[in-house]
Amino acid sequence: MANLEELRKKIASVRQAIQSESSGLTDTKTVYELRKSFLDKTGRVGQLMKYMKEVDPSQRAEFGKNVNELKNWALDYFNSLDEKMRAAELQRIYERENIDITMPSHRRQVGNLHPVTQVRNQLIEVFSGMGFEIYEGTEVENDYYNFTALNTPKDHPARDMQDTFYLSPEFVLRTQTSSAQIHVMEEKKPPIKILSPGKVFRSDDDATHSPMFSQMEGLVVDKGITLGDLQGMLDVFVHKVFGESTRTRLRPSYFPFTEPSVEVDVSCFECGGKGCSFCKHTGWIEVLGAGIVNRKVLQNCGIDPDEYSGLAFGIGIERVAMLKYGINNIKQLFESDLRVLNQISDRQ
Ligand code: PHE
Repeated sequence: MANLEELRKKIASVRQAIQSESSGLTDTKTVYELRKSFLDKTGRVGQLMKYMKEVDPSQRAEFGKNVNELKNWALDYFNSLDEKMRAAELQRIYERENIDITMPSHRRQVGNLHPVTQVRNQLIEVFSGMGFEIYEGTEVENDYYNFTALNTPKDHPARDMQDTFYLSPEFVLRTQTSSAQIHVMEEKKPPIKILSPGKVFRSDDDATHSPMFSQMEGLVVDKGITLGDLQGMLDVFVHKVFGESTRTRLRPSYFPFTEPSVEVDVSCFECGGKGCSFCKHTGWIEVLGAGIVNRKVLQNCGIDPDEYSGLAFGIGIERVAMLKYGINNIKQLFESDLRVLNQISDRQ
């Protein structure tokens, strides 16, 4: 018969083994393994029960109670150890993945829209605010739409105003977005209010001219349209694009498809109109051509000029971009040199 005192020592030594064997553990996995070795069915705590048959029957209940106490203690012990290991593991993850939020971030290169696109978008925004709709024409154009219908028949001296790329006797690369006027008036009856941005082509090449450039055509046809309407709209445009304090002035000019025709000047936004080298000491800068749509052009499109009148204007987009951003050679707009382009942005 085993003596209860001796068995209690065995119980105590198992308890000590749990403590000493777990003392160096650092993670939940090894704690789990150790826990199994003591608390599994065949574990060292359960094994104590095999002494039961050696215990005096009167002391068996007491012995069973002591083993159970060890078991409960061991469960608590391993649970709290497991919790500690879990916390330690998390701590190690936090340390490993520690982020220094005071570190400077990588600078992201942010792109800009091209200055020509910026001006184009701004013009579209300004004029759509006044109710203009966009009509995009085609770059290859029939001679009729580019010239003849615009009151510039073959042999008209005004054809020499624009050096034209002929693709064939019939087709040209359009020299002006004014060709869109004819398409629109053929397709739609007044009231008409359209804006037609696009590329145009002329055999012309110097510091301020390029064989390909962009224009924005405006056309309004309705009853009682006058030059006053034109100036009102252009005032809104120059205020938005060149600044609130700028003014416009109309100077007589000539285009075959408008009568009367005007050149529109804006007061110099560099010197406020006093005169400086930018405006060649005139106080004014020429920005676009415009006029009242020639009666013959309305007639060519089947619109009665006694009932309706129209105004038209053509804005050179590169020209506006050059003025606005102080670019003195149009090539800079086409060379895509980032040292130049990166300096030009309306973004705040
Ligand atoms: N089409 C003309 C040009 O390219 C500009 C213009 C448009 C003038 C509309 C008057 C009316 O020079």
